[in-house]
Amino acid sequence: MMKRDRANFGSKLGVILASAGSAVGLGNIWRFPYEAGSNGGAAFILIYLGCVFVLGLPVMISEFLIGRRSQANTAGAYQRMALGTPWRWVGRLGVLTGFLILGYYSVVAGWTLEYIFEATTNGFAGKDAQGFQAAFDSFAANPWRPMLWMVTFMLATHFVIVRGVEKGIERSSKIMMPALFIIILVLVVCSITLPGAGAGIEFLLKPDFSKVTAGTFLSAMGQAFFSLSLGMGCLCTYASYFSKQTNLTRTAFSVGVIDTMVAILAGFIIFPAAFSVGISPDTGPSLVFITLPNVFQQAFGGMPALAYVFSVLFYVLLAMAALTSTISMHEVSTAYLHEEFNFSRKKAARIVTASCIFLGIFCSLSYGVLKGYTVFGLTVFNLFDYATAKIMLPAGGFFISLFTGWYLDRRIVWSEITNDGSLQVPLYRLIIFILKFVAPIFIALIFLHGLGVFELFERS
Ligand code: PFF
Repeated sequence: MMKRDRANFGSKLGVILASAGSAVGLGNIWRFPYEAGSNGGAAFILIYLGCVFVLGLPVMISEFLIGRRSQANTAGAYQRMALGTPWRWVGRLGVLTGFLILGYYSVVAGWTLEYIFEATTNGFAGKDAQGFQAAFDSFAANPWRPMLWMVTFMLATHFVIVRGVEKGIERSSKIMMPALFIIILVLVVCSITLPGAGAGIEFLLKPDFSKVTAGTFLSAMGQAFFSLSLGMGCLCTYASYFSKQTNLTRTAFSVGVIDTMVAILAGFIIFPAAFSVGISPDTGPSLVFITLPNVFQQAFGGMPALAYVFSVLFYVLLAMAALTSTISMHEVSTAYLHEEFNFSRKKAARIVTASCIFLGIFCSLSYGVLKGYTVFGLTVFNLFDYATAKIMLPAGGFFISLFTGWYLDRRIVWSEITNDGSLQVPLYRLIIFILKFVAPIFIALIFLHGLGVFELFERS
């Protein structure tokens, strides 16, 4: 069953940085701040922390153990561990989800390149709020520019993937992740020392529970899954490159802590700067691309050089975070085609890149010429976002917990989590309890929320 010539990550640090690289992405720096901003700040963050550590980590451990045990891509993993059962569809669903997410994620990732370009060529200087809105609208509606950036981003992802697991994925994470931490710290220091930043810090630290509804709780859970890269076999694929010595529980904990720290630090970059110039941080998805450049211009208005450096660094940060995530999504499909269809890795990667670019073109154009084309009232971009984040990821997470909690032989689960009994894992029973009961029930709630079932009840 085991192919021993399989690629492996070369070091413990490589394992953590590659997995954290997958987790840390647009979800932390683009999605988390606007979710927190629209859901009341600190109270959302507290609930989010609960979701990450209580639900997210057991599901992550579950993905890790399935991947490492099977030594296969995510579709192959379920096929091997549950031969001849419908469980194989869980793996296949993961591959499809990753592929679709990559289709629209690479469009937003492409926007980050445009913003690096704009920031570097001083294109932000002198613009006001309307100016930034108009600039974004005309850029997104342009048929060529966003598409070219998206293709560039996919080619960069391709370049890393074809170099393989150790020389491509691991090495690039070892360079980009430390660089990302340094940039974040520099930006946090700049932001919290702005005059008037205190209100933003308070917003992040002082919970206002009056704003909490069932919806807040469920948004926090959806965000936790997206941000931790759970529910589509991405970390399962990475874990198939882990060594037998990797401590799965500890790795999951490190990834959870790093991912959460980056999200909260992104909050510490954005909210103090926004509050210091009196701009509301609850503008939703456009926060990072329309509100923020304006915030940077105003906050550092008296110091144009600082505004320049801050803006360039911020978008470089965003692009690097996105790249380590697109690499991980690409790997899910590449490993699948390579192992299940016997294509060479290069050929598999080419097929994935080409077809993602094809999908990306439709997502990109849905901000311009295809704006009027909708399915269920959603543009192609929003349809992909909705179907993946609100339906497919929660469904994947639900089945993954059931698979480990109920289907898998307990001896396999125990031997993977404790490395054949050589590790003490005091929380073992708790992890199993969560996978059996807590996670499926809560994830089912997200799922129903995603489908709008609760809203139906609320309205009636
Ligand atoms: N976790 C990534 C982020 O926060 O941006 C997004 C992501 C990557 C989702 C990989 C799912 C995935 F499999």
